[in-house]
Amino acid sequence: MNTLLLHCRPGFENEVCAEISDQAARLDVAGYAKAKTDSAYAEFICNDAAGPERLMRGARFARLIFPRQWARGEWLALPETDRIGVLLDQLKPMPVCSSLWLEVLDTNDGKELSNFCRKFEAPLRKALEKAGRLKEGGHGPRLLLTFKSGREVFVGLAEAENSAMWPMGIPRLKFPRQAPSRSTLKLEEAWHHFIPRDQWDERLAPGMTAVDLGASPGGWTWQLVNRDIEVMAVDNGPMNEELLESGLVGHYRADGFAFRPKRPVNWMVCDIVEKPAKNAALLEAWIGEGLCREAVVNLKLPMKQRYAEVKRLLERIADGLAERGVKASIGCKQLYHDREEVTCHLRRL
Ligand SMILES: C[S@@+](CC[C@H](N)C(=O)[O-])C[C@H]1O[C@@H](n2cnc3c(N)ncnc32)[C@H](O)[C@@H]1O
Repeated sequence: MNTLLLHCRPGFENEVCAEISDQAARLDVAGYAKAKTDSAYAEFICNDAAGPERLMRGARFARLIFPRQWARGEWLALPETDRIGVLLDQLKPMPVCSSLWLEVLDTNDGKELSNFCRKFEAPLRKALEKAGRLKEGGHGPRLLLTFKSGREVFVGLAEAENSAMWPMGIPRLKFPRQAPSRSTLKLEEAWHHFIPRDQWDERLAPGMTAVDLGASPGGWTWQLVNRDIEVMAVDNGPMNEELLESGLVGHYRADGFAFRPKRPVNWMVCDIVEKPAKNAALLEAWIGEGLCREAVVNLKLPMKQRYAEVKRLLERIADGLAERGVKASIGCKQLYHDREEVTCHLRRL
């Protein structure tokens, strides 16, 4: 059990390696990271068996930027027949688990394996319950089985409250038919990730005000309007007519980097594709000057050294706010709906 497996978006394996190595150094967990390009996962191999659990206990999964899911455990070869028997043997020395997720990697091979997992899940669950290895709702960790093929699985554990909210870290969000663009799901996913569900009614409340910078055609504005929030939509491009007719949207044809609301608003969101340093500075200014209480801003990633660059920008935001004497929580995640970008969330405390 000396391996920590981390899922990610294909192509971001090096970022996960850099980020988890950073965490391991901070926590004094000896080991090394390795990954194959486009495999959609990375591994951190610890020098001792207690390493992965120490790493997981010392880091908050939700605070990691690039990993979508993680689990401590090891790879297991499966036979053609009696896979369940071999899995049960492997699980014997492990704690009784409180839930079971079958996962695949975010690759074409992984997608093809999803069907196999769906069929395999019910008999496996039954066998685990019968053998006393799975007690739904108990206090044990979650059992995460990541299938690389029908013959190879990573048998892993993770605490449900310190791992991905959804299997493979992929949210099942339904595209709202009336929304004018697919980007709408990015803001919805950001809220799921950064705002605990039981705080939505208070932090995304009807009657609140928001500024949406780079709003056209209105996917993000739609999410805000859907919660009865009044929106100043800033973009030279056209806004969706239905949104304008909602009575909750004002369209401002202006430069998002120069626009300032007359009065502070509850939310600022920004989906302008610009140099990440420019968007980060905008975010720091809005929160720092008290123009908004919370903000969600996308940061486009550079071609290389993507983790190092994001880390540098987050440090710059934190330093800027500290210089102003402003306290804020700062979160950053590459969401499932993000491509070559990450999403930042700041909240003034
Ligand atoms: C990715 S799109 C936004 C999509 C939008 N969030 C949605 O969900 O429909 C980026 C938008 O930023 C706008 N934009 C680019 N530079 C801008 C600037 N300096 N000020 C305001 N808007 C800008 C573009 O016109 C474009 O509509």
